Amino acid sequence: MRKFGLGNPTSGVSFLSSFQGTSLGNVCHRHRKHQRKSKVLRAKSSQKTSLKDDKNQPEFEQQRTESGRDIHSSIDRRQLLISSFTAAGLPLISNQSLAAPIQPPDLTQCQKAALPPGAKSVNCCLPEPTKVIDFQFDSSLPMRVRKAAHLVDAAYIKKYNQAYELLRNLPDNDPRKFSQQASVHCAFCDSAFLQPNTNDFLEIHNSWLFFPWHRWYLYFHERILAKMLNDDTFALPFWNWDNQSVASPLPNVLPAVFIENPSLLDKLRDPLHQPPTLVDLSYSGQDEGLDPTSQRAANNNLMYQQVVSGAKTPSLFFGQAYRAGDANAPGPGTVENAPHGTVHVWTGDSSQPNYEDMGALYSAASDPIFFAHHANVDRLWTVWKSLGGRRKDITDPDWLNAEFVFYDENASLVKVKVGDALSIDKLSYTYQNVGNPWIAVNSSPLSKSSSVAGTKPVSSNGVASPATAEATLLEEIEEFGEEVEGKFKKLEGSFRSKVKRPVKDLFRKLKSQITDEELEEVLVIQGVEVPSDKISKFDVFINLPDADDKTPLNIPEFAGSFVNVPHLGMGPGMNRKATLRIGIGDKLEQLGIKDLSDVIVTLVPKGKGKDVPIVIKGIKIEYD
Ligand code: C2O
Repeated sequence: MRKFGLGNPTSGVSFLSSFQGTSLGNVCHRHRKHQRKSKVLRAKSSQKTSLKDDKNQPEFEQQRTESGRDIHSSIDRRQLLISSFTAAGLPLISNQSLAAPIQPPDLTQCQKAALPPGAKSVNCCLPEPTKVIDFQFDSSLPMRVRKAAHLVDAAYIKKYNQAYELLRNLPDNDPRKFSQQASVHCAFCDSAFLQPNTNDFLEIHNSWLFFPWHRWYLYFHERILAKMLNDDTFALPFWNWDNQSVASPLPNVLPAVFIENPSLLDKLRDPLHQPPTLVDLSYSGQDEGLDPTSQRAANNNLMYQQVVSGAKTPSLFFGQAYRAGDANAPGPGTVENAPHGTVHVWTGDSSQPNYEDMGALYSAASDPIFFAHHANVDRLWTVWKSLGGRRKDITDPDWLNAEFVFYDENASLVKVKVGDALSIDKLSYTYQNVGNPWIAVNSSPLSKSSSVAGTKPVSSNGVASPATAEATLLEEIEEFGEEVEGKFKKLEGSFRSKVKRPVKDLFRKLKSQITDEELEEVLVIQGVEVPSDKISKFDVFINLPDADDKTPLNIPEFAGSFVNVPHLGMGPGMNRKATLRIGIGDKLEQLGIKDLSDVIVTLVPKGKGKDVPIVIKGIKIEYD
């Protein structure tokens, strides 16, 4: 076995200096940026009240467009990190912040949603409530079983179709009407509401709010359907697209129930993606034409990647923290990107300007299949928690106490919090057990050994081993490095970079409660920026420098994806900015390269994403 310098005293020293110079510098820089932001916002806070005044609207739009999120971001009500040095030179991070959970918006202050050009006309504002009541668990509810949509029987289908028929026929101003239900989703992703006391739009995607918000959304939708049927046992079905079984009826095609029943049918679905076409869980806006066996293998690998190996910590799975006053959409978790985002785009109608309905967030919930799609996403939350290790719910009070409002089955507005959504048992529902064979998927690496990556092994004294033919490749691959002001890279075709692996010991000290085993190595793609209203996707490969858009995804070198489902949540003309974080600990082990000092990362724009400008600002590795 070769021995390498990671973790030994020599490399520890050199790392420490690079840590001071870079990572910590970054923290300070972030901190400065926040201070600057606050100043700008304080200066313009007097304008806030005039936003509702139409006269002032264009001015506001212009400011937001010119200056991007720095200016329209919210008031900085807290300090993110207070850093100083200990005597040992280690960063001391304390959280003396004024952090606070996200609060529900004032429904009377709805703005016209930012919809894409050519959008079907939709008013996303919700009926104004008379009062808000607090959510109470209803212990009298029977346990409801959500079944797989490909397995439901004729009696269920009849009821299910009837429930939507009744929902569609409610009076226009009834908040339970199906079109109103769809508007709820539009309102919370397309800039209809400001976060209370800020100038920033409330957005429930691309952050840690994604899973709990959608759980509550489905909960009330299901209760409303049950009310229509006067049947408290009614449960939504789930679209079991992660199940690659070859037995009929196929789980991973558009389920027949959504095609054969008029109230469950939506004509705006991709005509090319009707059964027996298999769902492509890595869909990029363009069909890859894989044979069914390869498609199934790629789907299984993606599921394993996104739920098992790539999501070993809460922040990897749920997405990044989003608290009161934060700029919205800081970054999604693994599953939110794919398969959640990819299945949206795959289902939407590619002949429509915005891939309506499912392929654009503003219109997605006008297709009843949305709720079955999200039931499966919700089910994956429970599956993920069952996998053990650090796969547990977030314990941060700013997550647990974040609040939302929804109209319930009696058309009353109910206030709920994230902390009450953690147990489906308490919410009296469960999922039919269908098995999750992808948990045990085991694909084999394309790169047979570490030398393929051209990553040069370093001996224990930090001196490079004699170069092999492959190892010289390392010299040709430059290091893009972590985010610094002014640096960016526009992805035009595959882009590869060497990425240094920092010393684990220092991170372990920052996370003393986490064992060495459980500390997860995370690849971070910083400053991803894409037009928010366009489909875009790039895939990430480890240890495969020559990966391109033909590289199959059923290999362990495939590490994850960035996916943009078109929406205008940031406001018109705005780019979406995000950080992509991917857990790579298992992967490095599987590829046999966990002892190397650098890894090679290749980013590959895919499908529609190839025509859309994608910018990144940094690549680094950290521990979580
Ligand atoms: Cu709220 Cu699947 O998106």
